[in-house]
Amino acid sequence: MRTPVALITGCSSGIGLALSQAFLKAGYRVWAGVRKEADQAPLQALGARPFLLDMQKPEDFPALAERVATFEGRLDVLINNAGIGVMGPLLDLPHERLQQQFLVNCVAPVQLARACLPLLRQSQGLVINIGSVSGYLTTPFAGAYCASKAAVHALSDALRLELAPLGVRVLEVQPGAIASDFGASSSQGAEQLISEQSPWWPFRDGIRARANASQDKPTPAAVLAQRVLRASQRSDTPAIVRAGYGSRSLPLLAQWLPRRVLDALLRRRFGL
Ligand SMILES: NC(=O)c1ccc[n+]([C@@H]2O[C@H](COP(=O)([O-])OP(=O)(O)OC[C@H]3O[C@@H](n4cnc5c(N)ncnc54)[C@H](OP(=O)(O)O)[C@@H]3O)[C@@H](O)[C@H]2O)c1
Repeated sequence: MRTPVALITGCSSGIGLALSQAFLKAGYRVWAGVRKEADQAPLQALGARPFLLDMQKPEDFPALAERVATFEGRLDVLINNAGIGVMGPLLDLPHERLQQQFLVNCVAPVQLARACLPLLRQSQGLVINIGSVSGYLTTPFAGAYCASKAAVHALSDALRLELAPLGVRVLEVQPGAIASDFGASSSQGAEQLISEQSPWWPFRDGIRARANASQDKPTPAAVLAQRVLRASQRSDTPAIVRAGYGSRSLPLLAQWLPRRVLDALLRRRFGL
């Protein structure tokens, strides 16, 4: 049997790196996307095939799919993992940051799936999108990020239904808190936005707390990666995989708590 091939985006750290390791260990050839040259060497050392990919440049996707077709002749699993968290009061977010949030997290994954569709059809393959509990539970100072992940949930549902007749399966992962660089990158972005001129200057501690919330009691990324690998190997592919701290409880809270109670809890938690 020929070696199965997985293409994973955002492999420099966190979940993408753990997924690369898990799929390599399971015998896949892993094409691991990174943004920076320097991030290629560690992945190469693991046995992956690193390549440069910026999700903000969807015009590069067709050439990438062609490279995979030429080198491998197949693609079994596409994992849309790369993502950013643009944190801060919604009305303080500049237009470009709002656009970047939705381009990287929502638009680019659809376009990458489109570029890879011929290969995925041939192999009767699988698309895995990384959503989030934040797609269910909207918190203050993360409106753009939560909206982007709610959109990923809707896009994944539509893709799953539309790709079914073509023999391509779709699985969405909805992580809770997972140990990664996500809190550090989100916090760095939020710090650049916090300003004395903002009406939300008095609430800056809440902004900081939200930007780093993904690293509150986080589950190791390797645990999530194993769960995803196992789900990807099932013949009855599940539509959704939840893993990580809060991945089950937070959507339940969002669904069942009366809106007034939930708002009061969130306002207290983030100092509003
Ligand atoms: N950690 C959590 O608690 C958690 C919870 C729910 C969902 N998620 C989701 O899980 C996914 C992975 O995040 P993570 O937690 O592993 O965080 P991470 O360690 O910060 O990893 C994010 C990855 O995305 C890459 N990336 C960011 N912007 C990109 C762009 N424009 N083009 C290509 N790659 C880009 C980053 O590359 P650079 O190193 O170059 O920035 C990095 O490799 C994200 O979609 C995130 O929303 C995470």
